[in-house]
Amino acid sequence: MRILLAYDSLSGNTREASRLVHGQLAASGHDVAEICVSTIADHPTVLAMQYDLHLLGTWTGGLGRTPAGMKSFVARLSRLPSEFQPKNIALFGTGETQWGMQWFCGALDRLAAYYKTEYPLLKLEQMPSGDSSRRQIAAWVAAVLARRAAASPA
Ligand SMILES: Cc1cc2nc3c(=O)[nH]c(=O)nc-3n(C[C@H](O)[C@H](O)[C@H](O)COP(=O)(O)O)c2cc1C
Repeated sequence: MRILLAYDSLSGNTREASRLVHGQLAASGHDVAEICVSTIADHPTVLAMQYDLHLLGTWTGGLGRTPAGMKSFVARLSRLPSEFQPKNIALFGTGETQWGMQWFCGALDRLAAYYKTEYPLLKLEQMPSGDSSRRQIAAWVAAVLARRAAASPA
């Protein structure tokens, strides 16, 4: 499958999560375009393509909010011609439980509601490192790919 992997990251945690997701997808033989949403202005051609699956990754701001960079990117996606707009969207991200469990990775809950996606969410505590994070990411990637395979064509 052709997959767009787009992430927003302030201090590197979500960038590392995206790198690990990318590795899992590449190991499964998928064609992945990975972008940081804050630099996508430099790569407009990436958005002028059709993808079988969109993976959006983000950190979470105060009180579970979606960061401005990801909100801008979502708005940008919504303005694309219909054939380039995402139809299968899975969300992942990093956050911190110390901000309160009700806000933990809240941006993912908000984006999931916006997109009405039924793909599973991947919520990671801060920087993914170690075997536990890798297992969590591998299981999420496998679940997303299985669900996408069962869905109708893009
Ligand atoms: C001002 C501020 C507010 C935050 N609020 C939340 C929050 O409500 N929920 C949460 O899960 N994480 C919150 N965080 C933590 C970040 O989402 C978390 O550190 C994340 O891993 C950062 O990802 P990044 O390194 O990719 O930027 C907040 C961080 C900052 C700086």
